[in-house]
Amino acid sequence: MKKNVVLFSKIPVEQQKRLEQAFNLTIFTSSPDADKDAFTKALINADGIIGSNMATRVDDIFLANAPNLKAASTISVGFDNYDLAALKKRGIRLMNTPTVLTEGTADLIFTLLMATARRTVELSNLIHNGKWTKSITPDYYGTDIYGKTLGILGMGRIGKAIAKRAHCGFDMNILYYNRSAHQDVEQKYQAIRCELDDLLKQADFVVVILPLTPETTHLITKKKLALMKPSAILINGARGKIIDQQALGEALKNKIIRAAGLDVFEVEPLPMDSPLLKLDNILLSPHVGSATTETRYAMAKCAVDNIIAALQSDKPTANWVNPEVG
Ligand code: DGY
Repeated sequence: MKKNVVLFSKIPVEQQKRLEQAFNLTIFTSSPDADKDAFTKALINADGIIGSNMATRVDDIFLANAPNLKAASTISVGFDNYDLAALKKRGIRLMNTPTVLTEGTADLIFTLLMATARRTVELSNLIHNGKWTKSITPDYYGTDIYGKTLGILGMGRIGKAIAKRAHCGFDMNILYYNRSAHQDVEQKYQAIRCELDDLLKQADFVVVILPLTPETTHLITKKKLALMKPSAILINGARGKIIDQQALGEALKNKIIRAAGLDVFEVEPLPMDSPLLKLDNILLSPHVGSATTETRYAMAKCAVDNIIAALQSDKPTANWVNPEVG
């Protein structure tokens, strides 16, 4: 008998067809966060769920409404909204989509770094607003990237792809902060592992690409920002909650650091009354690290492969993030 699966994200038609062939598929079209009650109802008979990282926390309370759930496939690399202890109690497998989004996300982070350094959006707006009436004066100059020092917080797949771009393309000196050492980046890109405070003091650019965990929540506080150079630029392509956003807003306003480029925020979408929107030394993007046609297609396919493998076999499957559930 076919198993029941709830799909709660829009995915390419051919990938949706694969799900329809394999399962009794319930398609939940509105966002689970927007209509929690309807989503809860859809979960009652679900053996599996598949969709992209949502604001709703998948914890004991959520799982109490999904008594048959055996597998969850998130169309994202991050899975911080899943309570792994709650999944373990219920023996529920969780799979994610790493690898396929590595290069695209590294590209976006580098885009933010370059555009923030060279003030691309600000200068483009200047032209749009009819203010390019004479040669640009020094108050609009950007800052060099080539040969500068890049500090990377987190040396997973994406951290390594950023290090490659920085070393091979921009001859940057690379410092990194990570729980464990990575000899490959140390050898290939001469990256140097260091303590967080040392990295913050020395780096011209700091890129955050750590997973969100209790240890990394508000890792970057007012005190840490004060360690950075006044000329430094901070980029966050990981999760908003890793940086104390209010402290960052104040640091940018008071020129404690030069600028920031953010793809992620403590609350998403960013509320329109956010003080960040009043700053001109910040570049914002709406959580689009993996948002290219090719990468989003590959993520959807990977997540469909994951849920089919998990619900059609008891064997270990690829991209299984909590193998301890057995
Ligand atoms: C990811 O894949 O984790 C992206 O940040 C989307 O949530």
